[in-house]
This record gives sequence, C-alpha cells and structure tokens, in this order.
Amino acid sequence: MRNLLITGGAGFIGSNFVRYMLEKYPDYRLVVYDKLTYAGNLDNLKDVAQRFAGRYTFIQGDIADAAKVDEVMREHEIDAIVNFAAETHVDRSLMGAGSFIQTDVYGTYVLLEAAKKYGVERYHQISTDEVYGEIPEGYSSVETDPLHTRSPYSASKAGGDLMCIAYFTSFGVPVTITRGSNNIGPYQYPEKVVPLFITNAIDDIPLPLYGDGRQMRDYQYVLDHCEGIDVVLHRGQPGEIYNVGTGVETQNIVMARRILDLLGKPYSLIQPVKDRPGHDRRYSLNCDKLKALGWESRHTFEQALEKTVRWYVENEWWWRPIKSGAHFEEYYTRQYQGREI
Ligand code: NAD
Ligand code: DAU
Repeated sequence: MRNLLITGGAGFIGSNFVRYMLEKYPDYRLVVYDKLTYAGNLDNLKDVAQRFAGRYTFIQGDIADAAKVDEVMREHEIDAIVNFAAETHVDRSLMGAGSFIQTDVYGTYVLLEAAKKYGVERYHQISTDEVYGEIPEGYSSVETDPLHTRSPYSASKAGGDLMCIAYFTSFGVPVTITRGSNNIGPYQYPEKVVPLFITNAIDDIPLPLYGDGRQMRDYQYVLDHCEGIDVVLHRGQPGEIYNVGTGVETQNIVMARRILDLLGKPYSLIQPVKDRPGHDRRYSLNCDKLKALGWESRHTFEQALEKTVRWYVENEWWWRPIKSGAHFEEYYTRQYQGREI
C-alpha cells in the first residue's frame, strides 16, 4: 500500500490521521478528498501542506459523487481507502437526517463500489461505538454484539458498517472497520462537547450541560485512535471489526468540572439545560480484540484532557474564527437558546 485516499481528511480525526501517517510512513502518498462542509477546514492541514508538499494532495469533492471518486481513484492510482467522511454530530442529526443518510450510507456505498472496481488492497471504514446503542453499567460492547442504534446519526453509521460487511461477504472487498469512542484533541470543531466547553470557559460563557450530566463517555485522545486505525489498516483481518477506546468512562459533569479546574474557572459556569432527546446514557467498549494486535491506549482521560485544554488555550487562531462565524452563531442559537432549566 502506497497511495492512500483519505476521505474526510480535512475534519478533526482525519486531519490528525493524515499528519500521523505522513510522519510515520515516509514512502506513503496521501490524497485527502473532502467536501469541506461546515466541519471541514483546510486550517487543520495548514502545516501538513507545508511540511509534506510532495506526498500530500488535497482535492475538494463529495464521496457521494461517483464520477469524481472514480476520477481520483484512477488518476492517483489509489490502492487503499480510509473513510473518515461523514456527518458526525448527533444534535444536528436530530435537526435533520437527510445529509447523514446521503453521506454516511450512500457515500459509503459509492466508495465501496470504487474499492471493488479498482481492487484496492484495503478499504477501511471509520465507525463509532454509538452503533451498539446505550450500554448498561457493568457491560462493555464486543464487536459481535447486535446493533441498537437510537439516533439518526448512529443509524446512518450502522448503515455504512452493514454495507461494508456486505461488500466483503458478497464481493470479497478487503474491508476492515474500527468503532471508536469519543475523541478529544486538536482541531475538533467546537460543537462537540469538550472543545465547546473549553472555548466557552475561556470566554466565561456558560457550559450547557445536558440533563443531569451523569451520562458517561469514554473520552480518548485522538492520536491513540489514529494509532489503532493504523494497526488495523496494516494488521487487521479483512471482514473484521475492531473496537478502539480506553475502556474507562467519565461522567459529563466530571469532565466539565475538570475543564474548569484546568482553566481556573468557577463551577458556577456550568448551566444545566434540557436533555438531548433519546440521549444515550452510557457507551463502553471492550477493546481486547485490538489489544491482541499489539495496540494499547497511551493517554489516560486526565492526560488527554490536559493536552486538549492546553492546545485550545494556545491555538485561539484556529477556533476564534469558527466560533465568531455566522454558521456557528446561527447553529448555537438554534441549539441552545431558551434551553436552560
Ligand atoms: P468531523 O465532522 O470533524 O469531520 C468530517 C469531515 O468529513 C469534514 O472534513 C467534512 O468536510 C467531511 N465530509 C462530510 N461530508 C462529506 C462528503 N459527503 N464527502 C466528502 N467529505 C465529507 O468528524 P470527525 O469527528 O473527525 O469524525 C471522523 C469520522 O470518525 C466519522 O466517520 C465519525 O463518524 C467517526 N467517529 C468520530 C468520533 C469522534 O469522537 N469525533 C468517534 C468515533 C468515530
Ligand atoms: O461515541 C463516539 C461519538 O462521539 C462519535 O461517533 C460522534 O461523531 C461524536 O460527535 C461523539 O458523539 P457524542 O454525542 O457522544 O458527542 P458530543 O460531544 O455531542 O456529546 C458528548 C456528551 O456530552 C453527550 O453525553 C452529550 C453531552 N453534551 C453535549 C453537548 C454538545 C452536553 O452535555 N452538552 C452539550 O452542549
């Protein structure tokens, strides 16, 4: 594998993965193919474009555009696809699910068709722990568990996963899937809870905490997730699914208080707001299958959060233009106005 197509590579995890791969594999060429939706941002790859000019190409395009995907596959002699491209925010999927179905399900199908036609060495799908649904305390999901999706986002991601398995089973496309828990780290769009809370706290704006704040998420550092994807891409078995997470869950209220501690801000900034409809209370992953391939998470929650807070403190150039932009302001008003309880 030498010529990799990284779809959604201008987003949060995709851009971290692109940097990680170019640093680690000096003989790989990466083509980032991204529609640049509100969540895609070439600032995420600014340093990459400068440091790896000869081995990195950016192409703006939609994964649901079969003709353009075909052209890119042919012209760049792509031999592996890693698909990060997706609509990714649960709250936006509650406002309207169409773009989620179009990108996360239909777009995945278009990429699988291209993978089949060009006989790629590997098609890797980035999926999520949300496909298992909410998980009772005392249990952690394994890869063979049934899917219990509850939001339009998770249902769309599950549709993509099932299509991947169908292309492996029916056509022998060498597909692998990773299901990751919540990522935190540099370049995460500040609609997601951790960068939202950090940047609000820096500006003394209330932190809108959904419901009782006792929901649990496994917050992992984005580069640990990238390493897990790398391990599966090179050592995972075609047709197989691998969970990626720390295996340790934290309540949202604890995460919010820790952010305020790290920034020296008062807990009174926490503002309880009406809960997310259908809010999954807990996710938890059993990651033994990936650990058996030699992977392990390098950051505890505390270390991951500290690094993340520091990055947002030191990189206001990145998030201030997003938060002061018309798109974000309109979204924020629609999502949070009048929601206080
Ligand atoms: P993100 O929203 O930051 O980035 C998504 C990227 O996909 C953006 O650059 C966007 O422009 C691009 N995109 C969207 N629609 C597209 C289309 N039709 N064609 C081409 N590009 C398109 O997302 P993220 O948080 O980096 O997530 C990346 C992947 O990882 C997604 O598949 C998501 O479901 C999965 N995932 C995310 C997390 C998390 O905590 N963020 C955890 C597990 C899995
Ligand atoms: O679990 C993996 C998933 O993690 C990914 O597949 C998704 O793409 C990613 O967005 C994320 O989904 P969540 O819904 O878990 O992330 P979010 O940051 O939106 O919310 C995390 C938790 O924080 C969740 O319990 C809801 C809560 N929350 C969120 C927001 C935005 C709040 O309390 N207040 C908020 O304002």
